[in-house]
Amino acid sequence: MNEPSLLNISGVYRSFSAGEQQLTVLKDINLNIKRGEMVAIVGASGSGKSTLMNILGCLDKPTTGQYFINGQDTSTMDADQLAQLRREHFGFIFQRYHLLGDLDAVGNVEMPAIYAGKDKKQRTERAQRLLSRLGLADRLDHKPSQLSGGQQQRVSVARALMNGGDVILADEPTGALDSHSGKEMMSLLQELHQDGHTIILVTHDMDVAHFADRIIELKDGVIIRDVINAQPTAQQTLPQVNTATTSWLNWDRYIEAFKMALLAMLS
Ligand SMILES: Nc1ncnc2c1ncn2[C@@H]1O[C@H](COP(=O)(O)OP(=O)(O)O)[C@@H](O)[C@H]1O
Ligand SMILES: [Mg+2]
Repeated sequence: MNEPSLLNISGVYRSFSAGEQQLTVLKDINLNIKRGEMVAIVGASGSGKSTLMNILGCLDKPTTGQYFINGQDTSTMDADQLAQLRREHFGFIFQRYHLLGDLDAVGNVEMPAIYAGKDKKQRTERAQRLLSRLGLADRLDHKPSQLSGGQQQRVSVARALMNGGDVILADEPTGALDSHSGKEMMSLLQELHQDGHTIILVTHDMDVAHFADRIIELKDGVIIRDVINAQPTAQQTLPQVNTATTSWLNWDRYIEAFKMALLAMLS
């Protein structure tokens, strides 16, 4: 039997009411994403990328159609169950980082674990470890305003990994970065992909999309292309990022996979 999709979107439409009118932003979207894939969703501004991303991340619901995660129909879950699923399995990265200005790097990275009710000492240690692995060991107590764009985006990657980050959803993660920091960010996402994370990236920039193994193109809310990218843009060497990430992230992956299996059994 084929391995079931991790994420399965079937016949999804999303409409918004704009005054008298209905604006249909996503039209008959059908999409399967397997565990461990690195996918780019590309399209012009307004094509529906963020709307699709919000549905994938359980931040929004389809108007009609179905969304299954690990075979489980999300429409049967209540708000608490969706929030838990989101917290435990999804990590989000945004164009403008969405960091809290009053908190230092460690405080920001800890946030998802606070909601998950993790012990203070454990979560601080984990946040410090993640930030150090991402080359920010000497920036732990810096506030976002004291960090460069590239550094802030790495803080947000650490935050996405705080609870495991089984699936990383990144909406225009390079959109606010200079081209060098942007390439570094993409290489970092490729590294996480190699460590087993499922990466879904939204971008309007085809050069950024070429870092992924699969490219899905949206136009006016319709998928017009879904292709394998046989030769993703090669990973750069990352001087600031410790290459020892592989082993410890793999351990994380193992725990995450175990949790997913347990969750599937319980449901
Ligand atoms: N909450 C909303 N209410 C009304 N219209 C929306 C809403 N969210 C998105 N839209 C509209 O849907 C279209 C697609 O938006 P979006 O998914 O953000 O596109 P993209 O991310 O590809 O730029 C746009 O025309 C946008 O104005
Ligand atoms: Mg968008």
